[in-house]
Amino acid sequence: MPEPKPQQRLREEFDRWAADGRGESMEHDHWPIARPALELMQIAETSNIMDVGCGAGWLSRILAQRAPRGRVVGMDISDEMIAHARKASAGQKNLSFVVGTVDNIPWEPNFFDRIITVESSYYWPDPAQGVRELYRVATNNGSAWTLINYYRDNPYCHQWGKLLAVPTHLLSAEEWKNLFRDAGFKNVAHQLIPDPTPNRATYTGRWFRDAKELAAFRAIGALLVHGTK
Ligand SMILES: C[S@@+](CC[C@H](N)C(=O)[O-])C[C@H]1O[C@@H](n2cnc3c(N)ncnc32)[C@H](O)[C@@H]1O
Repeated sequence: MPEPKPQQRLREEFDRWAADGRGESMEHDHWPIARPALELMQIAETSNIMDVGCGAGWLSRILAQRAPRGRVVGMDISDEMIAHARKASAGQKNLSFVVGTVDNIPWEPNFFDRIITVESSYYWPDPAQGVRELYRVATNNGSAWTLINYYRDNPYCHQWGKLLAVPTHLLSAEEWKNLFRDAGFKNVAHQLIPDPTPNRATYTGRWFRDAKELAAFRAIGALLVHGTK
């Protein structure tokens, strides 16, 4: 079957990001918010974990160290990202990577007791279908966690939609939680995870107007939505 257009656009865009080394550099920005999320997830040594939209796989490698007697699978729509992830992860026996899209996760049902997705879900062409797929591959009593910096309730990120080369969904915490509930998840809740990165006096990037805005964005923090199957 030919790849649908939105998925093709995503793959091509993130293949470009991977070629530019952005898969690796995202660790710097995302680890300060992913670290507290991992603590909340209560990962066991034996956990089977999927990292959806894993990019270059830095988080999958951390997860594989935390679940040495479990299995970690990183999945991403970009084959270039997956190529980078595989190259950097050789020798980690409980870790593997697959190319795939969240709309149709290439994995059997009821397998993962933890699923995490970091800074990916607002790109999914059909977020409701993506969350239903998280539910399908989760075990009973397993949990799914999505962590995002681009969401309606943080006004300092709204301009990103215009800066990104692919379509995005700017949903609120309430809307994300409803997608989780509609997919069948129980105990659906959210937290805001402030970013503790020290702020600089000046900012020269293109994502924020100035250093003050970036500091305000970090103080509100990332949105973590989760639920149990
Ligand atoms: C901003 S990057 C974040 C990567 C990684 N999670 C990190 O924190 O470094 C978003 C990732 O989500 C992936 N992605 C976007 N849409 C996807 C989809 N529909 N299915 C699977 N992966 C997707 C992209 O290819 C990209 O690698």
